[in-house]
Amino acid sequence: MDIIRIIGGRPLNGAVHINGAKNSALKLMAAALLSDEPLILKNMPDLADTRFMAHLLAHLGVDIIDEGAATTRFCAGALTSSEAPYDLVRKMRATFNVLGPLLARRGQARVSLPGGCAIGARPVDLHLKALGALGADITLDEGYATAVAPKGLHGAHISFPFVSVGATEHTMLAAVLAHGQTILDNAAREPEITDLAACLNAMGAHIEGAGTDRIVIDGVTALHGATHEVVPDRIEAGTYALAVAATGGRVIIENCRPAHLNALWGPMREAGINITEQDGSVIVERTNGTLEAIDIETRAFPGFPTDLQAQFMALMACARGTSIIRETIFENRFMHAPELARLGANITVHGHEAVVRGVDELHGAPVMATDLRASVSLVIAGLVAQGETQISRIYHLDRGFEGLENKLAALGADIRRIKA
Ligand code: EPZ
Repeated sequence: MDIIRIIGGRPLNGAVHINGAKNSALKLMAAALLSDEPLILKNMPDLADTRFMAHLLAHLGVDIIDEGAATTRFCAGALTSSEAPYDLVRKMRATFNVLGPLLARRGQARVSLPGGCAIGARPVDLHLKALGALGADITLDEGYATAVAPKGLHGAHISFPFVSVGATEHTMLAAVLAHGQTILDNAAREPEITDLAACLNAMGAHIEGAGTDRIVIDGVTALHGATHEVVPDRIEAGTYALAVAATGGRVIIENCRPAHLNALWGPMREAGINITEQDGSVIVERTNGTLEAIDIETRAFPGFPTDLQAQFMALMACARGTSIIRETIFENRFMHAPELARLGANITVHGHEAVVRGVDELHGAPVMATDLRASVSLVIAGLVAQGETQISRIYHLDRGFEGLENKLAALGADIRRIKA
């Protein structure tokens, strides 16, 4: 297996380009199932996860053409299957989101249930309840969810007991073709939700309120083709911002939407980092040596994103003072803490809370990636650490960060992938 080798201690300087958002692209790809006309997605990231989703779509009969320049054409003209088998679902949970569109388009679907993952159990009960409220008859057997709606789906008033990005998206993906009106209360407000609504509306759907906690969907009988540009990846942008904050230097983060990261800029500014928001880019600068410890708590958007918690922890590992980091979204999302400790960080985890006592210096060591965001937090710590850090199991990184080591090397980091 490939590893990443970093010699730390160099500041980052220059400009970095942000790709389209993985977590938006995956749901937009599922949206392609809803029409027999082509959906053309621009600003598509090229990631292990999007390739995996493409495999599943191809299995279902979707014709996929890479048109170059980060543009992919998906045409679900003639679907050949309504079944998503275990092997094409188990590696990536977002694949489960094909259940709703398949059901809406074909009246039936059978999709393997995703398992738990490194960050928690991650059940799909809210997805299934919402599809049930739309009229699906769902049975669970042999690890599969089988859903039928012989008379089609109908609108419903669904009030989510807590905010779920995936359940909100999944319900939208089914309700657009349901008969009548669907109202989603306590809906997730993430930029990826707004992006999905914009794409579905471009395909002829009637969705209002995306980005607020009440989404109203008036079902239509069919969707048509469209061209849509994937929203920039706020987590990738935030990750580079935190990397510069950790190493020092000055980097312009291009092709991003700074307003999507307000929950990050606040704590970063308090920690002593200069952030200059511009139209479509942000400049992150740390010139002086001091970095103050700041407490954060992860929350659904517009709160601090759980997908930046590990990276923020890497930054706080070398801050002055003690930072308390509370994870409220996932039950087991501190697996990076012991690995960061191998690099010299002083972190104690108590349930949902990590106490990070800043140290003067991190030092290189061999470490192991456990999930996507955890692995990039090890990269950030490795960029700061004195000496050599070797990160194994980096296939996690390839799931969500396109060209990570090339982008960081272009900013001045001493980082390289060593092929097995
Ligand atoms: C999405 O996951 C993202 N994944 C995650 O990114 C992200 O961390 C998360 O949203 C929160 O922002 C994709 O978009 C592919 P949720 P999702 O439903 O939709 C519980 C990354 O690193 N829950 O908002 O699965 C759940 O267990 C990934 O890119 C239920 O109990 O997140 C969690 O505790 C990791 N039942 C909480 O809700 C359900 O039916 C929020 O999960 C659904 C969720």
